[in-house]
Amino acid sequence: MSRPHPRSPRLLKPKRTVSIIGTGSYVPERVLTNAELEKLVDTTDEWIVTRTGIRERRIAASDEYTSDMATKAAQKAIEQAGISPEEIDLILVATATPDMFFPSTACFVQRQLGAKKAACFDMSAACSGFLYALEVAQQFITSHTFNTVLVIGAEKLSTIVDWNDRNTCVLFGDGAGAAILRNRAGSHGVISTYMGSDGSFTDILSMPGGGCRFPITRDNAAQRLNTIKMMGKEVYKQAVNAMLTAANTALEQSGLKADDLACIIPHQANMRIIEAIAARMNVPMDRFLINLDKYGNTSAAAVAIALDEANRTGRMKIGDYVLLVVFGGGLTWASSVIQW
Ligand code: ACO
Repeated sequence: MSRPHPRSPRLLKPKRTVSIIGTGSYVPERVLTNAELEKLVDTTDEWIVTRTGIRERRIAASDEYTSDMATKAAQKAIEQAGISPEEIDLILVATATPDMFFPSTACFVQRQLGAKKAACFDMSAACSGFLYALEVAQQFITSHTFNTVLVIGAEKLSTIVDWNDRNTCVLFGDGAGAAILRNRAGSHGVISTYMGSDGSFTDILSMPGGGCRFPITRDNAAQRLNTIKMMGKEVYKQAVNAMLTAANTALEQSGLKADDLACIIPHQANMRIIEAIAARMNVPMDRFLINLDKYGNTSAAAVAIALDEANRTGRMKIGDYVLLVVFGGGLTWASSVIQW
């Protein structure tokens, strides 16, 4: 018998099977290509593609907010699930770029959807947010607190990118993805989940300004503290290790092997990170769903958009085993094994 990971002795045995009964995604129309970035900062298409795999990303309009993208993704998920907004008990929005500190982006989404019965709150786990929210949703459903939960990952990262910093501005994009989770007796669903964090790395990836530590003042704004700060190399190293730990732990808990997986949906940050994980898991690259070439890193939205793409393009067939694995600021990481 395989030993559980030392940091995660907990083996989840949901009393109720939690299924994803609908997915949706939305990306803004505006495409920002690497060629356009060449005109903004000292970079090249060749550098960006070789170091990251990203070719273009989407940028939201100035009057298009995180809640608007989240709502559009949610509407598609609701339609696919065949439910009405009034059936939703809980709306969770994972985001690092909420419309406002409060009210929550989830409340803005509730208003736009007309999901009057739902409780609403946002989750902050940076790029790991969607899988953190999936786990929270699962707990609410397995504990019989709620039946139907709308989980969204949505970001307007273009508003917190420093467009003068070539180290970061080439990496990120905007978008949203959503999933409807519901108890479906006896049917396929979430098999295992794992979440981890390490607060000793808060400094390597953050947006320091705008909170109570560095409130919005003229000085703080001049230092661009309200933009993404990243120590890329350190993040890269930690990302590979954390995603491997997360993937292996969720797999162990599920009782499955990497070979059993039909599809792996990783955080869409950097092609080289995904290639390193594929090599260390000994899984061929064609089993990984990759769309970072089109959208860049959309943080909490990334794995949600990719899940919807996998669902709608038939990458996952009924009964397939699928692994989702993410990593982000905090540091945070998470993984889920799902039978589709
Ligand atoms: N264009 C051209 N040159 C650049 C650019 C650019 N856009 N950005 C950096 N460079 C330069 C650097 O200045 C450096 O130049 P120097 O040697 O003269 O100092 C050189 O390229 C090499 O820089 P490195 O940082 O060593 O490049 P590296 O190969 O590590 O790639 C990258 C950088 C792509 C950021 C990589 O470290 C990475 O992907 N890290 C992980 C980032 C990540 O995943 N972040 C998000 C995860 S969590 C979340 O999603 C919020």
